[in-house]
Amino acid sequence: MSEFARRLVAWQREHGRHDLPWQGGRDPYRIWLSEIMLQQTQVETVIPYYHRFLERFPDVAALAAAPVEDVMALWSGLGYYARARNLHRAAQQVVERHGGRFPHSAAEIGTLPGIGRSTAAAIAAFAYDERAAILDGNVKRVLCRAFGIEGFPGGKAVENQLWALAESLLPERGTGPYIQAQMDLGATVCTRGRPACGRCPLQDDCVARRDGRTAELPAARPR
Ligand code: ADE
Ligand code: SF4
Repeated sequence: MSEFARRLVAWQREHGRHDLPWQGGRDPYRIWLSEIMLQQTQVETVIPYYHRFLERFPDVAALAAAPVEDVMALWSGLGYYARARNLHRAAQQVVERHGGRFPHSAAEIGTLPGIGRSTAAAIAAFAYDERAAILDGNVKRVLCRAFGIEGFPGGKAVENQLWALAESLLPERGTGPYIQAQMDLGATVCTRGRPACGRCPLQDDCVARRDGRTAELPAARPR
């Protein structure tokens, strides 16, 4: 395992979150729902919506069969409503094209509406232990700082470089805990505003910290 992965996983065991409603289970539907809700919304806000949604739509068949108005009503207040519309469309595709069984690989999951490469990897890792890298905004920030990656990470060239780096760092096994560690570190320690480097398991090797450049990395969108 890379030293990077080893330190992150050890940190997650001690300091990460283990008790969230979508953790611990293996149901891809529940994991999918949580990942979509968490894309643009904080954990604390998501929790009550997540419970209400699952109560009304306990599985992918129930969601697919519901009128879209009911889905939108349960999403009301969460924002970014395209997420709810895509969720509903994706549920219908799972029923129509996959016989109601959620697809089993990140590559297939990523063909569903509203599920990009990183979200597909997270679902496959949490539900099926697939060895697939994630690269959301939090992970981009951690990688750019820890490895001193220059350039705007939203640009294609830098993004490709980050995907390659993310894949090279994946542990041989235990992808789920590892990507959970990345998410938690980015959300609670290596934050956008002022990272808490003194509490970070990567602090001894972090390029941004060594060079006093945590405010400059990742680079802003060029203008
Ligand atoms: N943000 C996106 N996915 C998440 C997860 N599984 N846990 C915490 N924050 C997240
Ligand atoms: Fe982020 Fe600081 Fe950790 Fe580097 S040492 S990865 S800047 S929190």
